Amino acid sequence: MTTIAFETTDLPIIGAPMAGGTTTPELAAAVARAGGFPFVAGGYLSAEALAPLVERMRETTENFGVNLFAPNTVPIDRGAFDAFVSALEPVAADRGVAIDPEPVDDDDHYSDKVDYLVDNPVPLVSMTFNIPSAEVVDRLHSVGTQVVATVTTAAEARTAADRGIDALIVQGPRAGGHSGTADPTRSIEDRATVDLVNDVLAEVDLPLAAGGGVDGPESVDELLQAGASAVVVGTLLLLSDEAGTAPTHRAALQSADFDETQLTRAFTGRPARALVNDFVRKFDPIAVDAYPALHHLTKSFRAQAKKDDDPQGLHLWAGTGYRGAQTGSAETIVKELGAPFTRN
Ligand SMILES: Cc1cc2nc3c(=O)[nH]c(=O)nc-3n(C[C@H](O)[C@H](O)[C@H](O)COP(=O)(O)O)c2cc1C
Repeated sequence: MTTIAFETTDLPIIGAPMAGGTTTPELAAAVARAGGFPFVAGGYLSAEALAPLVERMRETTENFGVNLFAPNTVPIDRGAFDAFVSALEPVAADRGVAIDPEPVDDDDHYSDKVDYLVDNPVPLVSMTFNIPSAEVVDRLHSVGTQVVATVTTAAEARTAADRGIDALIVQGPRAGGHSGTADPTRSIEDRATVDLVNDVLAEVDLPLAAGGGVDGPESVDELLQAGASAVVVGTLLLLSDEAGTAPTHRAALQSADFDETQLTRAFTGRPARALVNDFVRKFDPIAVDAYPALHHLTKSFRAQAKKDDDPQGLHLWAGTGYRGAQTGSAETIVKELGAPFTRN
């Protein structure tokens, strides 16, 4: 079996790609310095905005990945969307935010970014939100890039294998941020990531990394024992010095006022795990399966909540392991987490 780029680092730890400014170049560089595998988070960016981040990563290490959102638009139930708009409008007005009630759709500049990565090859590209087409996989392979898909079920793993994917990132439902599921309308039951790893390994014979809900070395050990060749951590890096996590988000992660996480479509129309706040309590029950329309609809509201330092209006992404997140340098956090499992 081919060796995958994330299998060659000193430590079997992958610094999760966290789009929206959380994975800064400094965070990715710290993960690399620690001996982990770093990602450039390409989601929400144009190809022009992605390019300097990739170039900066190349200056730090030659072994890294770039993560993209593969388009997966869910047809919008206009009635349900309009009802959500009606509920959000007065709450947004109270905050002085006007919202655009027309659903906005886009492909997150996917084709442009794939073109850029074909012209400027990197060692590894990972996709989340959908399994890339065989054509995209072939194009990336033709320039020597390994292609990885995030999967959340054994069936998605089978689809990925059939399309020529080199390796998988198995994401359990306890992960912070968006679920990478290729079927964002499905209901996602809680289960341990290790159980999902076992299901996937029974279905396909591909190298895989796994993550979701990791809260310390014991969960790393469990996933490696189950057959993962590396472990993905996102939430455990959110409080690190180098992460771009907003101060309001950092404070909430450390506050006794926020004591549970939930998978919710309330912020973006796609299931994502966040600390439960007033926004989740109010809007989760009426949330619509409509990514990226809901993401665009709530964006200005969330930006204002961030400016107002109000954790009740912000998407406070967090996996179930958030109590294990520590402050300090990401290099130390990754080293301490991965040291017991050093390769070679
Ligand atoms: C703030 C945040 C942003 C994220 N953004 C992305 C992203 O852009 N692309 C992606 O593939 N996964 C993203 N994820 C999910 C991670 O890749 C990973 O699956 C998750 O962090 C692992 O679970 P953990 O948070 O419990 O460690 C994000 C997670 C968080 C917490």
